[in-house]
Amino acid sequence: MIKKELGPIGIFDSGFGGLSILKAITKELPNYDYIYLGDNARTPYGNRSPEIIYEFTRQAVDFLFKNNCQLIILACNTASSDALRKIQQEYLPQYYPSKKVLGVLIPGAEAAVAKTKNKKIGVMATEGTVTSGSFVREIKKLDSTIKVFQQSCPLLVPLIEAGEKNNPATKIILEQYIKPLKQKKIDTVILGCTHYGLVEEQIKKIFGDKVKVISEGKEVAKKLKIYLVKHPEIETTLTKKSKLSFYSTDTTAKFQTLGSKFFGQKIRVEKVNLN
Ligand code: DGL
Repeated sequence: MIKKELGPIGIFDSGFGGLSILKAITKELPNYDYIYLGDNARTPYGNRSPEIIYEFTRQAVDFLFKNNCQLIILACNTASSDALRKIQQEYLPQYYPSKKVLGVLIPGAEAAVAKTKNKKIGVMATEGTVTSGSFVREIKKLDSTIKVFQQSCPLLVPLIEAGEKNNPATKIILEQYIKPLKQKKIDTVILGCTHYGLVEEQIKKIFGDKVKVISEGKEVAKKLKIYLVKHPEIETTLTKKSKLSFYSTDTTAKFQTLGSKFFGQKIRVEKVNLN
């Protein structure tokens, strides 16, 4: 009998943001082993070209598979928007036919479609994600009659990473981004960026209680749980010792402090080189 290769779940993000997704996943699925990789040396991805985002994401996928991961979650909306499809359709079949890479867009899109009553959904995301139109595509696949209004929020990631989420300037900027979505009378909004969950309370306050706010961490975790039940061929290849390992492409000091904020507990991180 051929022995199965076993390993952890890989979680990839352009930087710290994906730690908020990992946090939600480990809460829902605490028994598995996880390797987190943040490409902090080259973050943010949000305003880069699709070609570069694909290339960086492909390198990250190689790193995680070489470290035995059996399944990878691209816990970055920009990478999920600009690289996931090509990785699934072209790269995996050629180089890793038995492994899987999943993104974070579909769980958020499905949750929003299930929640909206007036069929008007807003998406707040990075410029890369908005330009790719990926959320619009995923929502329309589920219900073509829904109207989707996108808002890119380029200042949010730098503000949050600078630890300025409670700065009054952040509130003013959020109000500016949210105003056009309010004018479109959306009743549901997807926070389509790993970082925006950290300002979820501020966003909820500005929208008021008529608008449902979909924060993707919880949705991704719920859908991953269902995916693993439906795919025993993947689930049985995953190791389950609740072990967490963290890697970053940049020096580790900032990752250690800021990373702990996103993850909610102290983490030890190791520096790696992807190219
Ligand atoms: N992780 C990215 C995302 O979810 C945000 C940070 C970046 O622009 O790299 O889109």
